Amino acid sequence: MRFDVVSIFPEYLAPLDLSLIGKARAEGILELVVHDLRSYTADRHRTVDDTPYGGGAGMVMKPEPWAQALEDISAVSAVSDGARPTLIVPSPAGEVFNQKLAYELAGEEHLVFACGRYEGIDERVLDWAASEYTVRPVSLGDYVLNGGEVAVLAMVEAIGRLIPGVVGNPESLIEESHSDGLLEYPVYTKPSSWRDHEVPEVLLSGNHGKIAKFRKELQLRRTSQRRPDLIDALDVSNFSKTDRNVLWDLGYAVVEGRAVRRDNE
Ligand code: ADE
Repeated sequence: MRFDVVSIFPEYLAPLDLSLIGKARAEGILELVVHDLRSYTADRHRTVDDTPYGGGAGMVMKPEPWAQALEDISAVSAVSDGARPTLIVPSPAGEVFNQKLAYELAGEEHLVFACGRYEGIDERVLDWAASEYTVRPVSLGDYVLNGGEVAVLAMVEAIGRLIPGVVGNPESLIEESHSDGLLEYPVYTKPSSWRDHEVPEVLLSGNHGKIAKFRKELQLRRTSQRRPDLIDALDVSNFSKTDRNVLWDLGYAVVEGRAVRRDNE
């Protein structure tokens, strides 16, 4: 898999040399190239921005340096016949990034990230790029960052770790938050008694059936408390009697494969 990142602050992406992503790059499991947008400018001042048409605050990124960079990158794209690279444009106005999208993007051969700064990139770049790329504006969440770089660090890590071979123990991908639509259960390590705080007894019992039940219950409790929107989206048609009882206890009934708040029934 190949990632290209275009930014006016290439040094911002230095953390991608570290840890599991850095190791995967060194081992050739993933190729990642960072490009300086200013190297695609043609003027003496290497200008990448200008004032917005129609007025308003701030500056807008000029289209031509982007076109030069994206043309260069698509020309070397090795995607198979019929496929095209995906251009991800981090923006608070994009679709929200989540684990499902991370899995979907991890299945692509070539992802290109266009890091906007200032008030954003001239919108025509996105229209123009659609002839060579599948263009996807993507947001990390409902807040505003100063530019796309931090969002790219998060997305590359979330996507990259799903590529086979990047995470040493693939089992850890199965049991983590969001992989089954629920938040992860809490984890504990030694000592079992620490500053008057005890590890839940059942985890010391060695009874794997009981432990699995206990963990699932905690997942459901914590998800309903912290992220009720995830419970609303859950497919509970295959839930066991025990899980349904936990849901009931949390104020939900199961109706046509969905958990519905009993006060909304
Ligand atoms: N750029 C600025 N804010 C952003 C956000 N919330 N997500 C992705 N990219 C951004």
